[in-house]
Amino acid sequence: MQSLPQSATADTISLLLGHPDPTTLFTPEFQAAVERTLALPQALTALQYGNEQGNLALIDYLVGKINRDQGLGISSRQLMITGGSTHAVDLVARLYTRPGGAVIVEAPTYADSLHIFRDHGIELHGVPLDEQGARVDELEKLLTRLSASDNPAKLFYTIPNFHNPTGITLSQQRRVEIVRLARQYNLMLVEDDVYRDLAFEADIPPSLFALTEGVNAIHIGSFSKTLAPGLRLGWLTAAPETVQRFVNCGTTQMGGGASPFTAQILAEYCRSGCWEPHIEHLRRLYQSRRDIMLTALERWMPAGVTWTQPDGGFFIWLTLPDDLQARDIKQQARARGVMVAAGEGYFLDPADGAHHLRLTYSFAPPSDIERAVRILAEVIGSSG
Ligand SMILES: Cc1ncc(COP(=O)(O)O)c(C=O)c1O
Repeated sequence: MQSLPQSATADTISLLLGHPDPTTLFTPEFQAAVERTLALPQALTALQYGNEQGNLALIDYLVGKINRDQGLGISSRQLMITGGSTHAVDLVARLYTRPGGAVIVEAPTYADSLHIFRDHGIELHGVPLDEQGARVDELEKLLTRLSASDNPAKLFYTIPNFHNPTGITLSQQRRVEIVRLARQYNLMLVEDDVYRDLAFEADIPPSLFALTEGVNAIHIGSFSKTLAPGLRLGWLTAAPETVQRFVNCGTTQMGGGASPFTAQILAEYCRSGCWEPHIEHLRRLYQSRRDIMLTALERWMPAGVTWTQPDGGFFIWLTLPDDLQARDIKQQARARGVMVAAGEGYFLDPADGAHHLRLTYSFAPPSDIERAVRILAEVIGSSG
């Protein structure tokens, strides 16, 4: 995650990073859960090294929520608490790939996951997206080609819901086809689903984890987008033997489970019924931000610029006319006080992102979103 400040000056508007609205982070309910936890005898235990799989009360709560929300029947042996989604992706890369091994990602995809896979020396291959998500025809071509090589792909990393950076959701039909291909090519499916709970309207299609009944699939969730990223807690669900492998790995065995003290606070917060109404509040909040941004784009953007229509999450993906470079637009917008992300960092080949910008609507207040889009549109309009 970049450490750039979201807001360099009071006059700067940031549509840059995928951060939650700062005003939603510290609620009275969260503060009360912290205070109650401090008064419990478990607070002391939670300051020791913890259970390797994670806080048991939090595991039970999450298993119940996942089963209720997704109509599944997973057991507590199928969930592990992690240090955020990032830690889960790193565990997967560490234990389910090898240096030089082939992994398939979407193109574009979440830049920090690319970073993690690269840190592990993995050979990455990209599958392009369209408005229905990953192109299955391209995935099949790639799998066929790689399976005939001496380095067949072992794993497909996808962000199926409200994708970062595009906001696109993988359609139900594509999910079914991806599961078929995964079975055919013995491909592990890794689903980074940190925006899942931030669906604004339509029901989202079943997860790949649900469609595979958890066979050769790892589903990853996080508290970062629906509570607070500073908690650094998330989880993964997988087959019991896969969870056991993560539990038995060196860093988990030495360090114990992820952040036992914070996890104890979260168990208290979640079990007292505070999280789900908070998620509902965030859905409405981010939906209205999305609507404000879409309306402003419609109103101000010059002809030739197109954008995605996300049904949830934090992001809208802009495509500029071919004669405009996203990097230049980003710099000019920055000079006028608007921070946006250029597309390059989200692709294996940065050139593929040369005409794209990612806009985040979760962080800036509504009046700033309107103004920022107008300024960006002026910059684009005057650059043609
Ligand atoms: C797709 C995706 N995965 C993971 C993360 C990071 O999640 P965490 O804070 O749980 O590590 C983000 C944050 O931007 C994200 O967009």
